[in-house]
Order: sequence, then C-alpha cells, then structure tokens
Amino acid sequence: MPVPVILDCDPGHDDAFNILLAAAHPAVDLLAVTTVAGNQTVEKTTLNARRVCAVAGIRGVPIAAGRDRPLHGPPLVAENIHGGSGLDGPGFGDGEPDVPQDPRDARTLIRDTLLAHPAPVTLVPTGPLTNIATFLLAHPELTPRIERIVLMGGSTGRGNTTPAAEFNVLCDPEAADIVFSSGLPITMFGLNATHQARATADVVSRIAALGTPLSRLCVELLTYFAGTYREVFGFDSPPLHDPLTVAHLIDPSLISLVRAAVSVELTGTYTRGATVVDLLGVTGRPANAEVGMEVDVAGFWDLIVEAVRVLGEPTRD
Ligand code: RIB
Ligand code: CA
Repeated sequence: MPVPVILDCDPGHDDAFNILLAAAHPAVDLLAVTTVAGNQTVEKTTLNARRVCAVAGIRGVPIAAGRDRPLHGPPLVAENIHGGSGLDGPGFGDGEPDVPQDPRDARTLIRDTLLAHPAPVTLVPTGPLTNIATFLLAHPELTPRIERIVLMGGSTGRGNTTPAAEFNVLCDPEAADIVFSSGLPITMFGLNATHQARATADVVSRIAALGTPLSRLCVELLTYFAGTYREVFGFDSPPLHDPLTVAHLIDPSLISLVRAAVSVELTGTYTRGATVVDLLGVTGRPANAEVGMEVDVAGFWDLIVEAVRVLGEPTRD
C-alpha cells in the first residue's frame, strides 16, 4: 500500500525535487501540498509549488498556502541560496501556472485531508515547522490521524545559517519545539545526513541525459543551486536536503537511523534554533525521534533520476 503523504514545504530547489519524487514513485500517495514562508515568502513558495506541479504534469494534488511568518519574530528568507523567486535558474515566465492554488489555507487543507483519508497520514515538512505546529495546536483531536512526521531540519552537528542552527529550525524554533515535543513519531533528517546527498556533476549528467523538457529544467535548477552553494558555502556540489524525507518513505533501508532525544534551543544567545541531539544518551531525556545518519547515496540518486525520467515521459500527458 502506498504511503499517504502531505508535503509541507518552502520551494526552494530541494523542496521541488521532493515534490517530484513524491508524485512519481508508486510507493507514495501524494494527497496534498501545503506551503510556508521559508526560503522565500509564502506567496513565492506557493507559486513555486504550483510551477513545479505544472511543469511536471502533476495534477489533482491540492496546493494551499500556509503561514507567512514564524510563531514569533520576523520571517527569514534564503534569497542567497534560492534566489529572488525562491526557485531561480529556470525561466518559468511571468504567466500563472496552470495548476491552481487551493482556496483553503494550509491548516484547513491538512484538516480536510486527514478527515477524508481512511487511514492515518504521514506529514512531511521540509521547511520551517510553523504550519505543522499551528495545526497541532489547533487540532489536537486529529493527531490520531497523523501516522508520523518525517522532516528535514536541524542537525546532529553544526548549523548552516548560524554556527549552531539549521535554516528550517532557526526560522521558527518555537514551532520546531512544539513538533519535537508533540509525542508523535518523528523522523528527522538533518544536515549531518543531507550533506551526504550532493548533486555532483555525474548526477547532473545522468539527469541531463534523459533529454526531456523536465530534465532540462531540473538541470537548470541544480546548476543554479550549485552556484549559490559554491558561492556561499564553498561546496563543490549542492546537497539536495529535502528529498531524503520521501526517499526514506520509499525505501527505509536507504538511510540509517538512530533513536535519540532531540531538544530545540530556544534561548541561547549564540545557539537559538540549534537541535541538540543526545546521540550518547547522556542527558537521560527520553528519545523523541529517529535521526538519519548514513545515506546510501547511489540509491538516493537512483530514485531522483528515475522520478525525473518518469514524470518527463511524453506519454504521461
Ligand atoms: O537547511 C536546509 C533546508 O532549508 C532545506 O529544506 C532548504 O529547502 C531550506 O528550507
Ligand atoms: Ca525546504
């Protein structure tokens, strides 16, 4: 049985590939996409989610916009990584994508989707956790309809936005704390894992060799992403963070996991937004998450390339 999934995202180059992977693979039933302010404003991340679905021929998946700012404080954006549009690189044009925005807000779409589905649904947040936290606070009665939360965020080590904090968690530490304290089954893929999934020149060549309009767009996305990651972080090739989430759902053997207590730092002068992962069990705090550690990188990229191939096939229209 395919895993029923709601993606909550901030496209974002890597979020975009996670949408493709979730839509393409038969092991996943993509029920809905919700968007949140993160890599760019929620207006832009929503437009980008629609653009990705339009160019990939993903139809019938409702896309609803969520929160435009964190629970506390001003929103961040990652324009230096994802560009002014949030999905710089390809020329999407100025026109409206032919995939509509759902009139509901993210919280309502999540609620309706959980109520309508006959079995519990997996939530897959790959942006700031504002929508998820807001939903959990508003609908505690619906947590039995949530199978688990599989998220990209945090790190067992250092951050990427401050020395201590990863972007998604730093954007809304209070939201992250609510999610990690929820008692729901959580699987966390942090930078320690996602930085293993680098889109090398070989990966880009494999995607380019597919020779479809979608593969060309994916190459443009990865080429832009590679440029900003080289410029900002000095990386030879960019890590495709978010698709580790859906890749895990497709094949749980791809990424090793350890159970650990994950705490979110809310007040540290220099460490706010850090995920403090007790890998050695020294704090005595109970484990509240599975934490991704070692990635089968070849297996991961096989899934990504196959998703681009499947969605790019002309016969799909
Ligand atoms: O720190 C990386 C994460 O922040 C990824 O999800 C990226 O898309 C941004 O949201
Ligand atoms: Ca993201």
